[in-house]
Amino acid sequence: MFKDKKIVFSGVQPTGVLTLGNYLGALRNFSAFSDEYHCYYCVVDEHAITVRQDPGELRRRTYDMIALYIACGLDPERNTLFVQSHVPAHAELSWILNCFTMFGELSRMTQFKDKSKKNADNVNAGLFTYPVLMASDILLYQTDLVPVGSDQKQHLELSRVIAERFNHVFSDTFTVPEPYIPKTGAKIMSLADPTKKMSKSDENENAVVRILDPRDVIIKKFKRAVTDSGSEIKRAPGKDGVGNLMTVYSVFTGKSDREIEKEFEGKGYGDFKAAVGEVCADALAPVQAEFARLSADKKYLEEVMKKGAEEAGYNARRTLAKVRRKVGFIDLPRD
Ligand code: TYM
Repeated sequence: MFKDKKIVFSGVQPTGVLTLGNYLGALRNFSAFSDEYHCYYCVVDEHAITVRQDPGELRRRTYDMIALYIACGLDPERNTLFVQSHVPAHAELSWILNCFTMFGELSRMTQFKDKSKKNADNVNAGLFTYPVLMASDILLYQTDLVPVGSDQKQHLELSRVIAERFNHVFSDTFTVPEPYIPKTGAKIMSLADPTKKMSKSDENENAVVRILDPRDVIIKKFKRAVTDSGSEIKRAPGKDGVGNLMTVYSVFTGKSDREIEKEFEGKGYGDFKAAVGEVCADALAPVQAEFARLSADKKYLEEVMKKGAEEAGYNARRTLAKVRRKVGFIDLPRD
């Protein structure tokens, strides 16, 4: 397919309130691609229902997610911002790609294993085939690059396998996508247990900094963050808590580990945690202000969704038409 620019695609689920992990691992990096690439940023509401959702809440969070994309610096005139279920080609391609994905491959996905443990009463088929829908999201747009946190790496690898398999069976159809995983911030850890990923669905509120947490709450959560024995601000094996805070501080200030160690030489964990809280709250303040302004304007958000769905739909249908032809489906002549 002719492309005047390379393509970036990423998606975020409209579930829970987004965390600092989502921000540093993904959202914060999205706007950097807008100049050089054609960027598609999707709110993946179809992925969200693999876990039971309250319908009213899901709708509200979907609006909020579009507002948050814009608040994070994504101009809807320069990026295609859209909702997955507004483009039916995602679900349609997903069915076809299900038939090119092996049961064994899906069984090996660590996120499936984790989520089935967490939702033992609802291990549905959608949860199992979740990575195929994700591959469809990506492959529909002939995506070159997918910016994600490191927890999505395995899903990305499977998307590549599916694309290569289909290309091998039917000749070149899909661009084989590359992950873009940031050097710092690709896996932000829980503040209560720094050996665990910071997760939206954590039941312990102190473990998670939310993008929309008020300033005093952010600062309080960092003050309470679990650190290790000792008092030195230094990255070292077994000092996961301090290491995690150093990562957060480094992303927001641009400072290296060496510079951070120097800055806090002779100071204790208390001073360091306070400083991390301050830089984080400062960085999130403009995002929060912009979100507050935008989230009230439902009409505007619907206009953005509509424009995004038209742009995405047009390009998605082109890939889907090609796939339908290759697998042997009949396209009826138009009158
Ligand atoms: P989701 O909604 O769980 O997370 C959105 C993005 O945030 C990243 N992330 C993190 N990064 C660093 N530290 C953390 N603690 C952390 N937690 C989450 C995730 O890696 C992700 O980039 N399956 C995807 C959504 C999706 C998608 C796609 C992504 C659907 N289709 C196509 C890319 C391309 C997901 O559940 O993300």
